Amino acid sequence: MSKTILVIGNSDGIGAAVTQALVDRGDQVVGISKSPSPLGPNGPRHEIQDVTAHGYPGLLECLISEVGHFDAVIYCVGIGSGLTLPDLSKEAHVFEVNLLAMVKTLEVFVPHWLERKTGHFIGLSSIADDLYNADAPSYSASKAGFSHYLLSMGFKLEKTGIAISNVRFGFVDTKMAKAEKKPLMITTEKAAGHVLSCLEKRPKQLTVPKLVGAVVHGIRWLQSFRVWTE
Ligand SMILES: NC(=O)c1ccc[n+]([C@@H]2O[C@H](COP(=O)([O-])OP(=O)(O)OC[C@H]3O[C@@H](n4cnc5c(N)ncnc54)[C@H](OP(=O)(O)O)[C@@H]3O)[C@@H](O)[C@H]2O)c1
Repeated sequence: MSKTILVIGNSDGIGAAVTQALVDRGDQVVGISKSPSPLGPNGPRHEIQDVTAHGYPGLLECLISEVGHFDAVIYCVGIGSGLTLPDLSKEAHVFEVNLLAMVKTLEVFVPHWLERKTGHFIGLSSIADDLYNADAPSYSASKAGFSHYLLSMGFKLEKTGIAISNVRFGFVDTKMAKAEKKPLMITTEKAAGHVLSCLEKRPKQLTVPKLVGAVVHGIRWLQSFRVWTE
């Protein structure tokens, strides 16, 4: 049966691929991003909105009252900022976009979903949530907070009918994947397939690729060992 789904951060990258895949299977999609939708005026409804702007929660409330009910919300918004000392001026904004706006999204949707005893939130985190990353501390720390919050909320909301899925990708072939080496990088189409699989299976967490997740976890273990023994 077709679903009504809000995709936040869908003008580019994984969000754009998720939107295309949902449209292809006949779902009703509403999108939000700062730029217009690449699918144009003949594509699904699209709202131009910065998720850190004052009006963002109000837009979400308007969409709920106009559309009625969203079966799922997929939060694909994310920015990464490399840190070059001594300039820390972009650090706080990364937390506002990656973490705080996601929390504000749940603040709007969870009460509506609790009334209906159904709903599903899928958030795109990263395997970087497991690393202390000296080159991009705001990115890895915002993703650590993102994953921790979604898993905690998943436990809080179990037995309410609401599912929370935290998706942790390694490298996906978008403008965000800036590293020199990108082991086991997957396409946006493949990433979108994994996100859509969450709509059916409703897992608390999905890590793709698992091998990259395991290697990063090993690096984190070595980092922690160094901190403990200093
Ligand atoms: N690519 C990777 O290798 C990778 C790996 C692991 C996790 N992820 C995560 O997956 C998610 C999607 O990444 P991606 O690679 O698809 O990135 P992307 O290609 O840069 O797309 C990011 C999307 O977020 C939107 N966005 C950014 N800031 C926004 C804001 N303030 N308000 C509203 N929309 C905003 C962008 O829209 P505008 O251009 O209109 O601003 C764009 O549609 C991110 O959370 C990222 O951390 C990516």
